[in-house]
Amino acid sequence: MFNKLKRKSKKVAWDSEKLPRHIAIVLDGNGRWATKRALPRTAGHAAGAETFRKVATYCKNIGIEFLTVYAFSTENWKRPPDEVSKIMELLEKYLHEALEKMERDRVKMKFIGDISVLSPKLKALIAETEEVSKRFDGVQVNICLNYGSRDEILRAVDTYAKSLLRFSEYSDNINQGIISTQPSLTEESFSNLLYTANIPDPDLVIRPSGEYRLSNFLLWQSAYSEFYFTDVLWPDFNEKELDQAILTYQKRDRRFGGI
Ligand code: IPE
Ligand code: IPE
Ligand code: MG
Repeated sequence: MFNKLKRKSKKVAWDSEKLPRHIAIVLDGNGRWATKRALPRTAGHAAGAETFRKVATYCKNIGIEFLTVYAFSTENWKRPPDEVSKIMELLEKYLHEALEKMERDRVKMKFIGDISVLSPKLKALIAETEEVSKRFDGVQVNICLNYGSRDEILRAVDTYAKSLLRFSEYSDNINQGIISTQPSLTEESFSNLLYTANIPDPDLVIRPSGEYRLSNFLLWQSAYSEFYFTDVLWPDFNEKELDQAILTYQKRDRRFGGI
């Protein structure tokens, strides 16, 4: 296994010692991929799901610790109902297949976003996938579903505000030693109120499909991420494209405000 990986890393010329710990990808361009082939947009979403499977497996094989993918945004509900329901159907199909193959693939999955509004069937599949995932280590794949960074930040602020309210309601408890200090807000404690609590910030954010925007993806978390944009549409993305993104990332000088 080690030799095989070593050979592979030689071939692609990236440095296996300096891999990004966390890669985040906006899965964009499915619709245009299908339209170019005179197919319905939903065929693009199906092709995109296959690409996701391939890229997640590759990340696992090369030793990436976290892969986060943006699959459905809080704004994507604006799409025609037919397209939205087809995406949800594809997701169900994907999760059924993933569950069947989980013992073999051993990819740990976590869902990020407000899944409470999804169908009971999807919610049950998500719960099962996360439960089975607990047994695996290695790459963790985070799937952002009904995710929006602004929504995530607002929820965190709301949780914090409620904790302050509880604090003032029970401030008598301070005297009794039940609560010792007012809840404080630091970058670290705020990060822990986000969906991505305990997940390190992404080192590399990839957006395919020729768009140069974040579209409400990981606004807080990507403060010091490196960005990689490519015109390739997501269904055409592959291992070689990821190699190219990693190579580009490794040539960057990350200074984090220093010199
Ligand atoms: C991304 O592909 C998938 C979702 C947002 C659900 P798009 O459907 O946005 O594809 P384009 O951008 O229209 O090509
Ligand atoms: C971003 O893609 C969201 C996902 C890929 C899930 P969009 O296609 O929704 O983004 P915009 O509309 O081009 O900004
Ligand atoms: Mg798009």
